[in-house]
Amino acid sequence: MKSHIESLLEQTLESFKQQGIVPADFQARIQVDRTKDKSHGDLATNLAMMLTKIAKKNPRELAQLIIDNLPASSHVAKVEIAGPGFINFFIDDNALANQLQQAFNDDHLGVTLPAKQTIVVDYSSPNLAKEMHVGHLRSTIIGDSVVRALEFLGHNVIRQNHVGDWGTQFGMLLAYMEELRAANGEQAKMELSDLESFYRAAKVRFDESTEFATRARQLVVALQSGDEYCNKLWREFNDISLSHCHDVYQRLGVSLTRADVHGESAYNADLAQVVKDLDAQGLLSESNGAKVVFQEEYRTKEGEPLPVIIQKADGGYLYATSDLAAMRYRSNVLKADRAMYFVDLRQALHFQQVFSLAKLAKFVRPEMSLEHTGFGTMNGEDGRPFKTRSGGVVKLVDLLDEANVRALDLVRSKNPDMDEATLTEIARVVGISAVKYADLSKNRTSDYIFSFEQMLSFEGNTAPYLLYAYTRVAGIFKRAEDIDLSQAKIVLEHEKEKDLGTKLAQFGEVLTRMTDKGLPHVLCGYLYELASEFSSFYEACPVLAADTEAQKQSRLLLSQLTANTLKTGLSLLGIETLERM
Ligand code: ARG
Repeated sequence: MKSHIESLLEQTLESFKQQGIVPADFQARIQVDRTKDKSHGDLATNLAMMLTKIAKKNPRELAQLIIDNLPASSHVAKVEIAGPGFINFFIDDNALANQLQQAFNDDHLGVTLPAKQTIVVDYSSPNLAKEMHVGHLRSTIIGDSVVRALEFLGHNVIRQNHVGDWGTQFGMLLAYMEELRAANGEQAKMELSDLESFYRAAKVRFDESTEFATRARQLVVALQSGDEYCNKLWREFNDISLSHCHDVYQRLGVSLTRADVHGESAYNADLAQVVKDLDAQGLLSESNGAKVVFQEEYRTKEGEPLPVIIQKADGGYLYATSDLAAMRYRSNVLKADRAMYFVDLRQALHFQQVFSLAKLAKFVRPEMSLEHTGFGTMNGEDGRPFKTRSGGVVKLVDLLDEANVRALDLVRSKNPDMDEATLTEIARVVGISAVKYADLSKNRTSDYIFSFEQMLSFEGNTAPYLLYAYTRVAGIFKRAEDIDLSQAKIVLEHEKEKDLGTKLAQFGEVLTRMTDKGLPHVLCGYLYELASEFSSFYEACPVLAADTEAQKQSRLLLSQLTANTLKTGLSLLGIETLERM
């Protein structure tokens, strides 16, 4: 409905251009918003106020002119001018009912699909030398949810798990793996399954033994020059490390597969060319033997230049170098229209610098959009970065285990008589969803406090609340299984039916907003409001005990559409629904 009104206004603006009311080359971003207060209609625009300067007319006069030129539409029941020159649109209830009826029979729930784009989404991307910890949680689940929504909207989405699988630390890890193999044979594989302690132990050896450190350096050099033995060792190491990541993805219900892994090492062969090309364009400078690029706009607070380092004095390449190569690949090989990077906000400067450099050096097509969709930090209850009691990093698996235990307690307390197998399955879903939803429902860019108590509450904008709301809506049909709905028609009479219908019709707008900026909390907020809207409807409007058969059928359709929207919405957040809990 919102896009329908937008298109009516666009047509009006076109006719204004033809009539010379505004210049023919005038560009405006037409804004249509949902009204807060129903007495102001359903949608409103400030277009008249936007045009006053250019059209040299007062806003109320312009508002009337817009209304006079507005193409006729059966969706609009009434238009009004309000305040200084807002135009309020009242949506026709029959048109809304028809729209919902159509949504009911559509795979996409009536959502209008946008022009198809190829979109690269860079997410999760852990460093393989380390176990996945809570810091990777946000990138993984926020990215995955945006990926799902983009695919739902029909885009060609290319997942890229840009894992950190290259760099000097690998020498140390390989040397340690080699040492363990020599002592214990294949046993070493097992040891690697706990990557965190493996890394720490390797570091201890590196610091305590100069022989070990020398071997580690030899191995890096050999690895980088393509030595077969080193590469085999390295592949084995990555394989074990990646299989650990994929266990976590599977447990989290994240859609990344091995085929999506395209890490730093994938660009090794392109790095020398990146340096050559920057050099050929006169962009490279020397700084203490390193090759760097200075861009005027990047300076410290004190005004010191902040270069991007492309190649170290010893010939080694850096994080930025592989990102430049990756951008070139994403633009020229994958032909992305858009690339989104779900990476910690603390890397904001890195992305600003490499994005502007990639454009400057023409490594990406000028029309390609590069977006660092960064996120804030997940903090503990003390407001400091999340740590274990002893101050260590919290492993993702441990966090999920605890969520599971707590969810089991919760579900058991609500269902003392439920059998163990059902309890376990429900607790698995509730535990994982609680962790995911708590994160997804916070604004991506803010820091947030991780709290089991809050995320497992049945009150407020939480996973248990929504999962429970879904079981309640779905439950209505269990009692209505024998009702034939094939001829049912949605009719919006009661105020609460209209409110619910209006909310349901907003699903498409919400997905557009969510995917435009990569903000899953927009979808979470919507689903929460939808569930609350359904509760008020259900309280005010008896469904199975409705006055007439037609009314009962219409309300059943509304309930069914609510259930479908909740289920689809949750699935786009990567959250499973339950039939009971
Ligand atoms: N491996 C990096 C880290 O753990 C994140 C990589 C993000 N993606 C990228 N193209 N730089 O910090």
